[in-house]
Amino acid sequence: MDPASIEVALRADVAACRDASALEATRVKYLGRKGAVTALLRSIKEAPPERRRAIGAEANRLKVLCEQLLNERRSQLGGGDRNPFYRAPLDGSLPAFDGAVGRRHVIAQTINEMKEILLGMGYTPARGPEVELEYYNFQSLNFPEEHPSRDLQDTFYVSDDILLRTHTSPVQVRYMEEHTPPLKIMCPGRVYRNEAVDQSHAAEFHQMEGLYVDTDVSMADLRNDIAIFVQQLFGADVQIRFKPHFFPFTEPSVDVDMTCHVCKGRGCAVCGQSGWIEIMGAGMVHPAVFRAVGYDPERYTGFAFGMGVDRVAMIKMGIGDIRLFLENDLRFLSQF
Ligand code: DAH
Repeated sequence: MDPASIEVALRADVAACRDASALEATRVKYLGRKGAVTALLRSIKEAPPERRRAIGAEANRLKVLCEQLLNERRSQLGGGDRNPFYRAPLDGSLPAFDGAVGRRHVIAQTINEMKEILLGMGYTPARGPEVELEYYNFQSLNFPEEHPSRDLQDTFYVSDDILLRTHTSPVQVRYMEEHTPPLKIMCPGRVYRNEAVDQSHAAEFHQMEGLYVDTDVSMADLRNDIAIFVQQLFGADVQIRFKPHFFPFTEPSVDVDMTCHVCKGRGCAVCGQSGWIEIMGAGMVHPAVFRAVGYDPERYTGFAFGMGVDRVAMIKMGIGDIRLFLENDLRFLSQF
């Protein structure tokens, strides 16, 4: 082989080396007893006298080059798998990489599912601040001054009249201040309560609120929308029932139960053998709330409902502890 071809082959071979044994094989291939550079050196004897000096110089240059290239490559590979150039030999028998594909948090998934259903029913999304004025969280919603939920024990105050909202209902008021009926909105969002945390209470969680205001809105409309919503969320065979309740911002107010989606109302461990699961609060918007936003309560009527997203997710997915939503443990999150 002529010197130029040897050099090309040498450079390619060294570059292809991945480990020490490949480097040694390359050294033998060029500098070993039957190596290409060695053969070139030996060819001097047979060469015409005037060529011998040139061939000798080329052969020596290649020998030095070969050692230099091998040393360079050896130091590149030297750090084993800590070396950025190092590529472990591919073992096709190893199990495939479990590609950790990202996904939405189970709470975000639940909110999105609720949103899709409500969008289809004509509700448009509305948002409000999580750091809220006490006025919007309480006064405007007809909470009396001495209402227990205003207590420091239940509400995180930022200052005298600023707090972390305890529910999404203040969004109703903010929205009504800015719009005139008819209106139909949903308000998803995060809320905060100064709770003793346990498996069913968290200090921050999520709610979805609905509000519909027009002339002649009735409790039958409320019942109809809630039934449609719950059946799309939990299954067409789910029934609902209203129980009388109290909220300052609705009159009359109700708690809404649905038949247990696990036992279909026959009674099981999930529903505590009752066949019913409490799912949301609701009612007809109180005239005092309409007055607070400048609506004429003689002209307009409306209904509202509100539910805990975390609770819905727990019921739907059979999750036993609300704290799991905030722990960001992938073993939990990757199940949904
Ligand atoms: N704001 C209530 C709560 O946090 C939930 C609620 C009940 C919202 C009835 C409403 C409603 O809009 O009409 O417990």
